[in-house]
Amino acid sequence: MKANTGTYYTKTAQRLHWIMATIFIVAWAIGFYCANIMPSGPAKESTIDLHKNIATLILFLIVIRVFWRYTHPAPQLPDSISLLMKRAAHAAHMTLYLILIILPVSGCLLSWGSGYNVPVAYLFDIPRLVAKNPQLVSIAKPVHIYLSWFAGALVVVHILAALKHHFVDKDSVLLSMVRNKKA
Ligand code: HEM
Ligand code: HEM
Repeated sequence: MKANTGTYYTKTAQRLHWIMATIFIVAWAIGFYCANIMPSGPAKESTIDLHKNIATLILFLIVIRVFWRYTHPAPQLPDSISLLMKRAAHAAHMTLYLILIILPVSGCLLSWGSGYNVPVAYLFDIPRLVAKNPQLVSIAKPVHIYLSWFAGALVVVHILAALKHHFVDKDSVLLSMVRNKKA
């Protein structure tokens, strides 16, 4: 594996980042809305279903993304950034990758454990891997809820950091996820 000494992520890495970021933010907003604002009833049930149909896409995309990241390393951060900040950024990115795995998996376990199906893009259901299990739900539900809140907070910090790099530090970090000359 060769180190990426360029300024930009590859086009594929950028496309995967923006598609997954959009799905994540939409799924988060729908999950928040149906769990905390909607009254119980059929409308809430179908909104949770929408949440699941969108969010399960992350499970398939993350497999491609991790493979791509492993074979195409991230570009070097600018020299103006201290070693400590470089390490913090790396830790934050690895935490975001873990969240993109654990959050949808805990959602699947929560649904299966409660006796519901796990649908993907209104096309098919993921084959049930565990039977209805209240004990599993008592673990998967708080994991899903608390992790979704932690993830929301981390994504806000991530976005603010990207904006600070671009508008305050005026370095190449935000552009590394936007611009590219090669495929
Ligand atoms: C990256 C993907 C996902 C994100 C960002 C996400 C986010 C959220 C959020 C923010 C909530 C509301 C938490 C609260 O305040 O109570 C929620 C609830 C929920 N999510 Fe997800 N979720 C994701 C994936 C999934 C998946 C794949 C499933 C199932 C297949 C799922 C099933 C559920 C269910 C059933 C609830 C309602 C929990 C309750 O009963 O209150 N989620 N999710
Ligand atoms: C408008 C929203 C967003 C903006 C402006 C943004 C911006 C960026 C930028 C500029 C980078 C490159 C940073 C660097 O090289 O240090 C990056 C990397 C990354 N972003 Fe985002 N992001 C957004 C949303 C999200 C969301 C919602 C997620 C997932 C929950 C996410 C996950 C990641 C990950 C995992 C990386 C590391 C990529 C790698 O090194 O392979 N981003 N983002």
